[in-house]
Amino acid sequence: MAENSLQLQTLNPELDRHFVKQLAFDLRQAVAQNRLLGLWQMMTGFRGLYLGALLSIAIAAAARTLTYLLLQYVIDNVFTTGEGLAQLPALALGFVALAACEGFFSYLRGIWSARTAEGITVRLRNYLFDHIQRLSFAYHDHTQTGELIQRATSDVDALRRFYADQAIGIGRIVALFVINFTMVLRMNTRLGLLSIVIMPAVVIMSYFFFGKVTKAYDKYQSQEAKVSTALQENLSGVRVVKAFARQPYEIDKFEKENWEQYQLGKRLLVMHSLYWPVSDILCSGQTLLVMITGALMAMRGEITLGTYIAISGMVVWIVWPLRNLGRLIVQVSTGLVSYRRVADILAEDREDIKSGNQALTEQPLLGEITFQRVNFAYEPTPVKEETEEKKEKPTSTETAKQPEPIEVLHNISFHVKSGHTVALLGSTGSGKSSIVNLLLRFYDYQEGRILLDGVDLREYPRHYLRQQIGIVEQEPFLFSRSIRENIAYGVGREVTEEEVIEAAKAAAVHEVILGFPEGYQTIIGEKGVTLSGGQRQRIAIARTLLKNPRLLVMDAATSAVDTETEMHIEAALERLMANRTSLVIAHRIQTVMNADLILVLDKGRIVQQGTHEELVTQEGLYRQTYDLQVKIDEEVEQEVAGVLV
Ligand SMILES: Nc1ncnc2c1ncn2[C@@H]1O[C@H](COP(=O)(O)OP(=O)(O)OP(=O)(O)O)[C@@H](O)[C@H]1O
Ligand SMILES: [Mg+2]
Repeated sequence: MAENSLQLQTLNPELDRHFVKQLAFDLRQAVAQNRLLGLWQMMTGFRGLYLGALLSIAIAAAARTLTYLLLQYVIDNVFTTGEGLAQLPALALGFVALAACEGFFSYLRGIWSARTAEGITVRLRNYLFDHIQRLSFAYHDHTQTGELIQRATSDVDALRRFYADQAIGIGRIVALFVINFTMVLRMNTRLGLLSIVIMPAVVIMSYFFFGKVTKAYDKYQSQEAKVSTALQENLSGVRVVKAFARQPYEIDKFEKENWEQYQLGKRLLVMHSLYWPVSDILCSGQTLLVMITGALMAMRGEITLGTYIAISGMVVWIVWPLRNLGRLIVQVSTGLVSYRRVADILAEDREDIKSGNQALTEQPLLGEITFQRVNFAYEPTPVKEETEEKKEKPTSTETAKQPEPIEVLHNISFHVKSGHTVALLGSTGSGKSSIVNLLLRFYDYQEGRILLDGVDLREYPRHYLRQQIGIVEQEPFLFSRSIRENIAYGVGREVTEEEVIEAAKAAAVHEVILGFPEGYQTIIGEKGVTLSGGQRQRIAIARTLLKNPRLLVMDAATSAVDTETEMHIEAALERLMANRTSLVIAHRIQTVMNADLILVLDKGRIVQQGTHEELVTQEGLYRQTYDLQVKIDEEVEQEVAGVLV
C-alpha cells in the first residue's frame, strides 16, 4: 500500500481526502475474464455511492409515478364528481412536494453518479500511469506509444462514460420500468400486458446490434490507436521526415489511416442511426396501441377517465426504458471493448523492482563483476491478436506464427576487479549495449551466470542495482523541465546548488549552461531551449555524476562531442572512475587504451580480451582497428600540417 500512497502526493489535496480509501485498492484485482465482472470489480470503493445513486433514481421514479396516481385521484374524485374541492389546496401541495422530491433525488443521482464515474476514472488513470511505468523494458519494446496513449486516454474515457451514463442508465431504466409497469398492471392487467408486447422485438434487435457494434467499435478503437501512433511518431521524428523530404509520403500515409478511421466511424454511426428510427417506429406504435385501446376502454366505461390519463402518462415511462435499454445495451458494448483494452495493460506483469535479498542492500557495493558463459536473446515481439473476433476464436495457426528469439550474446565470460575500468569495443550491433542492459537487469539472461561482488545478480533487488549503477545512455533522454531538475533527477536526496554546479563543471557543461538566458533554470525542450547532441550528452553525464554511483556505465558517452570537449570530459571522467568500477563503451581506441581490461566484441561474442599492451601485440580485430585508426589519425595530421604550411 505504501506504493499507492506515493501516488497520492500528485493529487489535489482536496481530492485526496475523498480518494484516500479508494486508491488503496489494487486495480489489478479488477482484471477478470468476464468483462462485466471486471467492470463491477473496478467499482470497488465506489459501490456505496453508486448504490446511493441507484436508490435516488428509484425514489425519483417512484415520485413521478405517484404524481400520475395523484392525477388519477384528482380527476376521478375531484373534477369528475365535483366533490372534495376543499381538498384541492392539499392536493396541489402534494403535486409540488412530489415534484420537489423528484427534483431533489434526480439531483442526488446526478452528483453521486458523477462522483462514482469521475472517482473510478481518476483512480484508473493514476493507476495506469503508475503501472505503465513499472512494466518491463521488453513490454515497452513491443508496444507502440500511440497505442498506450490511446488506451490510457480514449479507452479510459469510454469507461468513464460507461459508469456515468450506461451503468447508471440501466439502473434508471430498470427502476422506471419496474415501478410503472407494476402500477399499470395493477390498475389494468390488459393494458399492462399490452404495454410490453414489443419487448421481445426490442430485445432481439438490441442483441443483434450489440454484436455488430462490439466488433465495429473494437476495430474503430484499434484504428484510432494507429492514427495516434502515426501522429506521435511523426511528431517525434519530425526532423527525420523533413530531412528526407518525406512530408508528402507521411501525409499520404496519415491520410490513409485517418480515412480508414473515418470509414469505421461512419459504419458505427450508420449502425446507431439505423437503430434509432427502427426502435422509434416500434415504440411509437406501442404507445399508440396502449393509448387507443385505453381510450376505447374508457369510452366503454371499462376504466375511469383518471385511470386512462394516469396510464397514458405511465406507459411513456414503460416504453421509454424499453427503447433506451436497446440503446444502452449497444453502448455498453463500447464500454466492454474499452474495458478489455485497458485490462490487457493491467494484466501485464510488472517488473519486480523490490524483491531480492534485502541484506545485500545494506553493505556497500564493491563493484566486482563476473560474467560466466552468459547467453542472451531479446524476447521477440509476439504476434498480437487484433480484434475481439479473433480473441474469441484463437486458431492453432496463430500460435504457430510466434517468432523465435534471436540470440544476441553468446557465451560471454569476463571478470572485472573492483575499482577497475573495463572497456567494450566492437562494431555497431555487436552487443555492447546489451551487456549493459543485463547488468542493470533491464532484461533477464537465459543461460550462464552474472555475479556482482560474488553474488548472483538475480539476488539483488532491481531497485538497488539501479541506484548503485549510474548509466549515461547512448541516447540520453532529458525531460522538458529546467536544466537543474534534469541534473538533479533521480539522485534520491536533496541536492544543493553547489553540488549541481560542481557536477556540471565536471561534465564540462557549466559554461554552456551559464550562456543560456536563465542559466540553470532554463527549460529544456519544447517549451525552452533546444540543446545540441553534445550538450544533451554532457547534461546526462552531469546527471550521472551527481548520483555518485558505485558502478559507472558510459555507453559511447563521448561520441557526440568535439575533441576538445572530449578531453575535458575525459579528464573529469578519469577522476571519477578512479576509485569505482566503470564500464566504458566506445568506438575509438584512444578512449579505451587506458582501461584495465578491454573486451573486443564481434557479433555477440567476445573475440579478444586483455589490456591494450597485450592486444596490440596479437593478431586480431583489436590490432586491425588500432592500425586503421592510427593510419587515419596520421593522415588527418598530415593534411592539417599541409594546410598550415
Ligand atoms: N530491445 C531490443 N529488442 C530486440 N533486439 C534488440 C534490442 N536491442 C538491441 N537488439 C538487437 O541486439 C543486437 C545487439 O544490439 P546492441 O544494442 O547491444 O549493439 P551495440 O553493440 O550497442 O551497437 P551500437 O554500437 O550501435 O550501439 C542487435 O542486433 C540489435 O538488433
Ligand atoms: Mg549500443
